[in-house]
Amino acid sequence: MQSGTNRLGCDMGPSAYRAAGLAEAIRELGIPVEDAGTIAPMPFAAPPHPNRAIHHLAETAGWTLALTEAAFRHSAAARPIFLGGDHSLSAGTVAGMARRAEAEGRPLFLIWLDAHADLHTLDTTTSGNLHGVPLAYLTGRPGFEGYFPPLRAALDPARICMFGLRSVDPAERGALGGSGARVHDMRDIDEIGIVAPLREFLREVTAADGLLHVSLDVDFLDPGIAPGVGTTVPGGATFREAHLIMELLHDSGLVRSLDLVELNPFLDERGRTALLMTDLAASLFGRRILDRPTRSF
Ligand code: ARG
Ligand code: MN
Ligand code: MN
Repeated sequence: MQSGTNRLGCDMGPSAYRAAGLAEAIRELGIPVEDAGTIAPMPFAAPPHPNRAIHHLAETAGWTLALTEAAFRHSAAARPIFLGGDHSLSAGTVAGMARRAEAEGRPLFLIWLDAHADLHTLDTTTSGNLHGVPLAYLTGRPGFEGYFPPLRAALDPARICMFGLRSVDPAERGALGGSGARVHDMRDIDEIGIVAPLREFLREVTAADGLLHVSLDVDFLDPGIAPGVGTTVPGGATFREAHLIMELLHDSGLVRSLDLVELNPFLDERGRTALLMTDLAASLFGRRILDRPTRSF
């Protein structure tokens, strides 16, 4: 999908991951992989929204509906990877994983790796790009009623942990402040690093017997290593920071599902961003430099 952004090219993301060998990289780890193919949006009738900046609202809502269904279905007996596509995809995948968690009687936790907060409501977005709204929808912020599929239950922000923030719009800043989400901006990562706050969050997921979904936006990474994205912001995560997160996530054994979003192959350089994202996914599924005793986190 690419209805949530105004730059075309994101819809080629899944093809680029297939060309980069994502399935093979995970099979090499001894994990069976099935490519479930391409998902199509469902029809959704959304009325015109008073915020005239918004574009492709009904289409994005239709994707959300289809992806919620698909995420629920494919997570019954697998750990799905959702290949985007722009980040509005997560409105559906996370809603579907929330349903999965509910069906298992467990809470859903979410790690959001992104330069952006994606916390606009339909009323506050000025770009009108709906990849800027999924976290507001998922946490039940007002104004989505009638425009997006109804959520069965909003995600408690206290179960969300964000890393990598460095571009936050004024309306999002206010919403982040009182939300209760764990927010680690790049300044935090510079000062304290990633390991301690990540371990702390993973301990909480373990204690609550939670299901963990990871949403990885390409622009979490520094544009120097990941140019293939429409919304580059300087000062992102390094190669090693990103791999370390994936390695720790693997060791935790907690990850149930993963979004790889915002890859725009039209803007990439000889596939390097697709390859890096593929390597990061492989780290999350257990590729490692050396075997090591699993240490408790
Ligand atoms: N906050 C900006 C907006 O709403 C940028 C959002 C970028 N989001 C993303 N998923 N790349 O337009
Ligand atoms: Mn994003
Ligand atoms: Mn982003």
